[in-house]
Amino acid sequence: MSEPYPPVTEHLDDPESAVEEGRRKMDWALQHMPILSELREEFAESQPFAGEVVGMAMHVEAKTANLVELLALGGAEVAITGCNPLSTHNDVSAALDANDAITSYAVHDVDDEGYYAAIEAVIDHEPTVTVDDGMDMVAAIHEDHPELIDSIVGGCEETTTGVHRLRAMDADGALDYPVFAVNDTPMKRLFDNVHGTGEASLATIAMTTNLSFAGKDVVVAGYGYCGQGVAKKAAGQNANVIVTEVEPRKALEAHMEGYDVMPMREAAEVGDVFITTTGNRDVITREHFELMNDGVLLANAGHFDVEINLEQLDAMAADRYEARDGVEAYELDDGRRLNVLAEGRLVNLAAPIALGHPVEVMDQSFGVQAVCVRELVENGETYDAGVHDVPDRLDREVAEIKLAADGVEYDALSDEQREYMGSWQHGT
Ligand code: NAI
Repeated sequence: MSEPYPPVTEHLDDPESAVEEGRRKMDWALQHMPILSELREEFAESQPFAGEVVGMAMHVEAKTANLVELLALGGAEVAITGCNPLSTHNDVSAALDANDAITSYAVHDVDDEGYYAAIEAVIDHEPTVTVDDGMDMVAAIHEDHPELIDSIVGGCEETTTGVHRLRAMDADGALDYPVFAVNDTPMKRLFDNVHGTGEASLATIAMTTNLSFAGKDVVVAGYGYCGQGVAKKAAGQNANVIVTEVEPRKALEAHMEGYDVMPMREAAEVGDVFITTTGNRDVITREHFELMNDGVLLANAGHFDVEINLEQLDAMAADRYEARDGVEAYELDDGRRLNVLAEGRLVNLAAPIALGHPVEVMDQSFGVQAVCVRELVENGETYDAGVHDVPDRLDREVAEIKLAADGVEYDALSDEQREYMGSWQHGT
């Protein structure tokens, strides 16, 4: 039998100072996470997760770590690994692993073998709840450990691509336990996907390249939640925004918002910066690389590294070198240099200096995750196998905590208004 895959601390030269630095990052984030702070008090008292084992595959950085610790404080044993080989912060991973109730297998820049061995190591803890970002944990359990499914009360999925994959699995009748589409709930997607991806992707691209967006043609591929955020924030930094889409209403929305809309074939000829946010594959390919100007920046903010076809770019390149930390220049025969950021992986989490989304938006997303895990533990048996929307009362609960923390008051419906809104008999 092969050796069990070791937790992160056994991969590090100086785990003690890593733990200290990771803890510092977590403490800073927690100061700006009023929702998780409030839930910490509640869960520490009520211990909703006592006896549960939560298996997680998430981006292991400071904000996620506060969710993990919240689940542990609420009584769970937690095992976690990364959901992308480049997004793990080893110090944060080590700080988590130092908690007796938590085992973290997430290690930065592991190879494919290590990445999947770490997922297996989490599954060895026999989770009763899964929390995924991209669905790798659910997939591995269904494919290789179906015997665990009976004791799993349910799961939560963080991102659009994961929810797409789960819905496809559900449609095939292949999803054997309930999973909440956390991504799809307003408190997540209207803030995290829009503002989080917009701000974090642009900030990371700017920091990685030390270049400005002002006056540049920025091509945003996909005008969904993430694309809208990237486009809006790029326009706010004085870029000329060009949108590419395949969905007519999304294309129209972008057009009415005042952006240039055109096929990628045309955008390729004029763009200075390209940011893909489609969740789809082969959005930028050879035919586009052939048309691009010298010096363009190519970045992806979608979940998987398949949006920019780097195999084709590599095959076209006469030379390839690291132009800066996190920037790989592909030099073509005619001397043009196309610069790829973060190996085409989601740029706001995988670039060398990437910090992921701003803390405040992740407080909302992870607040929803936390109350969804509580719901599964308390009422899991009432949900059939399959993908479920987050119950509206849970989404509202998180919104109310956030508004109260920010000191924002808002109106309430009167009884007459509630009756009026719920009636079909009132007319002119
Ligand atoms: P969405 O479904 O709202 O938007 C995707 C858009 O891309 C749709 O409007 C679709 O019509 C369009 N599209 C699909 N194929 C296209 C193509 N070939 N060319 C142009 N447009 C195309 O999804 P959302 O929420 O915006 O998420 C997009 C991706 O970003 C997903 O992979 C998701 O998992 C990921 N994501 C990344 C985050 C990050 O931190 N970087 C945060 C949240 C989501």
